[in-house]
Amino acid sequence: SVLPKIITIDGPAGAGKTTVARMLAQKLKYAILESGSIYRTFTWLLLSKKRELLPLRNEAKILEVLKEEIPKLDIKADSQGLKVSYQGTDLTQELREPEVEAHVSEVAALPSVRKLANEILQRIAENRPIVAEGRDMGSVVFPKTKAKFFLTADPRIRAERRYLEWQAKGLVASKEEVLSKIKERDHKDSSRTEAPLTVPEGAIVIDTTTLSPEEVVNRILEALKSSHP
Ligand code: CDP
Ligand code: CDP
Repeated sequence: SVLPKIITIDGPAGAGKTTVARMLAQKLKYAILESGSIYRTFTWLLLSKKRELLPLRNEAKILEVLKEEIPKLDIKADSQGLKVSYQGTDLTQELREPEVEAHVSEVAALPSVRKLANEILQRIAENRPIVAEGRDMGSVVFPKTKAKFFLTADPRIRAERRYLEWQAKGLVASKEEVLSKIKERDHKDSSRTEAPLTVPEGAIVIDTTTLSPEEVVNRILEALKSSHP
């Protein structure tokens, strides 16, 4: 059987995209392309270099800063995830910080910023088979692939999952706070005009509310087998 070289997984925060994409990528020996990490990287760059540009005011200036800083990044995709470093310093921890998370949706709403991100993502996908994970992988960035999935789950469950992750990292936040931040990001991602979060045409929708990551991976593998026997 010949699997498509690009498998897309889209959906809201906490649906399980990263976890499931990672498990799937390891099984299939694909690399994983966490597109959110590109937007997180851009947001981190702006927060650390030009804090005064957030909240967003000047799109042209933001683009100028990003274009200047992007050559200093090293971005690599493998079956563990996307590794980003800046002038030799690994950014994995920084990209998950709540401050980055609080601003990423406004940065990702800018059309010119999305164009930059998409160029980087499509270039990485030229070299190896990938599981691409994010908000617009199946709808905008890789619309031609035949393997599209959309994960979703009840917002309370998604917030609960994120709450447990934050707790494990020693971050202090109440469940209600996490839920309201998730809902706010959902709203921003779904209501923007450029590449809003949406179920891509031809995508298989999986509600993960009551499923384990293994069960989700198995459903995806079954769907891939039955459509590419
Ligand atoms: O893991 P989680 O869903 O919390 O975050 P993420 O996938 O790293 O994405 C962080 C943010 O980046 C999202 O809330 C979106 O605003 C943006 N994003 C996007 O606009 N398009 C994508 N393809 C991926 C992420
Ligand atoms: O990437 P996204 O924001 O969609 O989700 P994630 O970063 O993979 O986080 C999902 C969290 O929920 C992880 O801690 C998983 O262990 C857990 N989980 C899951 O991913 N899938 C399920 N079906 C159930 C739980």
